[in-house]
Amino acid sequence: MSAVGTATQLSLSESELKLLQTLVYQECGMYFDARRAHFLADRVQRRLRECGADSFYSYYRLLISNEGRPELAKLLENLTVNETSFFRNKPQLELFHKQILEHLIRRKQQERNYNLRIWSAGCSTGQEPYTIAMLVADAFTGHLRWNTSAYECTFPKPLVPAPWKLEILASDISYSALRAAQEGIYSEHHMAPVDYSNRFRHFDKVDERYVVKKALREMVHFDFHNLKTEYLPQRNDVIFCRNVMMYFDEAEQKRLLDKFFRCLNPEGYLLVGHAESLLGLTDKFTLIYHDAGTAYRRAEVEEL
Ligand SMILES: C[S@@+](CC[C@H](N)C(=O)[O-])C[C@H]1O[C@@H](n2cnc3c(N)ncnc32)[C@H](O)[C@@H]1O
Repeated sequence: MSAVGTATQLSLSESELKLLQTLVYQECGMYFDARRAHFLADRVQRRLRECGADSFYSYYRLLISNEGRPELAKLLENLTVNETSFFRNKPQLELFHKQILEHLIRRKQQERNYNLRIWSAGCSTGQEPYTIAMLVADAFTGHLRWNTSAYECTFPKPLVPAPWKLEILASDISYSALRAAQEGIYSEHHMAPVDYSNRFRHFDKVDERYVVKKALREMVHFDFHNLKTEYLPQRNDVIFCRNVMMYFDEAEQKRLLDKFFRCLNPEGYLLVGHAESLLGLTDKFTLIYHDAGTAYRRAEVEEL
């Protein structure tokens, strides 16, 4: 029987691998195909050693037991790819900043609805939601400038002016990523994409590190959400789910897009990663393209 793994690694038989693939897929939607089977075997080996389990089956029994829930969460954390950065995919953020946000602010103001809700689904260590917060703060500064009297009266200038209520929800399946995101402490290396004006406005430099200032931190609320589940945050104006779907198989991507459709307000926006596309997966969203940036808008009944 063929096995996956090297001499120094745990060798998983095909049936063991299948059991793990199925468990991981059912729990979080990530699909480890033949190309990524070595990665799965390697991570399982590490966890197995860490737990002191004496065989694959004793470890698997632990994973599927009630008392093994924390270990299953740890295994999933070890399988996720947490790569992220501030201001990732600039053309898309430019589209978000200059078109989507401005349109939303203008439209909501006309409707006298001052609630704005943005969800960063799969936020990793926080760079994405803090980037969104910086862009929203910037858009509101511009907005206040147009309404000069309000701008001059308020001091210190709030990042989100009254009567607006902004919620940026940032969620992930990895508790350790969420902890780091909540801490909001970044190295010089992480900060490379952040320009000096944003560094000065939104971060305190403590020794060699940058700490997110309270005002920006308070714009973001972090929480655990597994995108595989049905109970996901509703009534969003914008959902960022970038570089997450690419780890799911097609069936799971389709299910997720249906859920995102339901989680968005009418005409809400969905932003996916640079290497991700909705083509062939759904007809419930319309593509928006501007200067190399892409986004999707929820298509309403009459457009479908
Ligand atoms: C590559 S990072 C992307 C981070 C950020 N969105 C970006 O584009 O820079 C993918 C994130 O998705 C999270 N993730 C993977 N599967 C998930 C699931 N089922 N539910 C919630 N988050 C998940 C991972 O933990 C990881 O932090």
